[in-house]
Amino acid sequence: MTHQDLKKADDGRVLIFDTTLRDGEQSPGATMSHREKLEIASMLDEMGVDIIEAGFPIASEGDFAAVSEIARNTKNATICGLARANLKDIDRCWEAVKHANSPRIHTFIGTSPLHRAIPNLTQDEMAERIHETVTHARNLCENVQWSPMDATRTEWDFLKRTVEIAIRAGATTINIPDTVGYTAPAESAELIRRLIAEIEGAEDVIFATHCHNDLGMATANSLAAVDGGARQIECTINGLGERAGNTALEEVVMALRVRNDIMPYSTGVDTTKIMAISRRVATVSGFPVQFNKAIVGKNAFAHESGIHQDGMLKNAETFEIMRPADVGLAGTSLPLGKHSGRAALRDKLRTLGFDVADNQLNDIFVRFKELADRKKEVFDEDIEALVQAQGAGE
Ligand code: KIV
Ligand code: ZN
Repeated sequence: MTHQDLKKADDGRVLIFDTTLRDGEQSPGATMSHREKLEIASMLDEMGVDIIEAGFPIASEGDFAAVSEIARNTKNATICGLARANLKDIDRCWEAVKHANSPRIHTFIGTSPLHRAIPNLTQDEMAERIHETVTHARNLCENVQWSPMDATRTEWDFLKRTVEIAIRAGATTINIPDTVGYTAPAESAELIRRLIAEIEGAEDVIFATHCHNDLGMATANSLAAVDGGARQIECTINGLGERAGNTALEEVVMALRVRNDIMPYSTGVDTTKIMAISRRVATVSGFPVQFNKAIVGKNAFAHESGIHQDGMLKNAETFEIMRPADVGLAGTSLPLGKHSGRAALRDKLRTLGFDVADNQLNDIFVRFKELADRKKEVFDEDIEALVQAQGAGE
């Protein structure tokens, strides 16, 4: 409920609103089964996410069933469903979320000129619709989130007017979506700052940020919005989402943790559970994680070049700003390739149980480099074969 949310925000918390099961699942081809959705929701709850947007109940019978069951089974997180700005959507959403320990209705309408043109509503007609639908939602549920879709391309005066109407009608969270990933960090911060400064009643609601990654700025924009006063970040695991995706949960959570010196906010997320849920979401959505993806990519804690491997073997902080264990990884990996140096080769030999003298190491190193020029990655079996061929194994 919002008073709890405001209390958390007062205590320096940024609420994490995960929409993997709603906006994430909207990625073409990312559909998840009912059982998979329940599993992901349970992992999100266990890792300490504050709000789970479990789906869009009116979209299909399957979505309705998944949101209802997640609502019934979730212990801690608030369960939210999405609804367009009409009474039928909102009623259906409430039917799905109402059994949750903490239910939330999230209703939205596109407020920018391009989006107003679709239902062909004037500003006055849209204002009336917002008043009617938010009031209806609030009569059903004490926790109501309202979003002006495409907020970052909406005229300031109209945006301000709609947010004021939604707050007066009872919205408890105001989410400001950058629906098409158009905004830049300085604008993102300024927009939230100005809304909070100029809107009557702003101090009684939570402002949220919901960014898309079309220009690769979703994480930066979300953190900038926090700087401007937003206290809820909407995000998805692995940044799954429409087009280039949504803000990645693992990125904002780890950024707030690692750079707490300049962003002094906490989250309730147990970061050691990040890798497990990242892998599971990749599997069930069928969207593999790119190798160089921040935090969860295969290479995020891997070092191949000789200088980096040597540095890592002496002091991990030389090339790592987080510990692998902080995100649930067993350790750093030092894959052997053509850029690797003697220090990493010696370390690998020791791990494999080979204690070689310096002259033997030099010889193995020459042959290792020849092999690495032909192969992308040199595996443990390759190293063992090199040692055996050289006659240095024990
Ligand atoms: O990107 C968007 O505008 C949305 C809304 C439904 C909040 O996902
Ligand atoms: Zn979105």
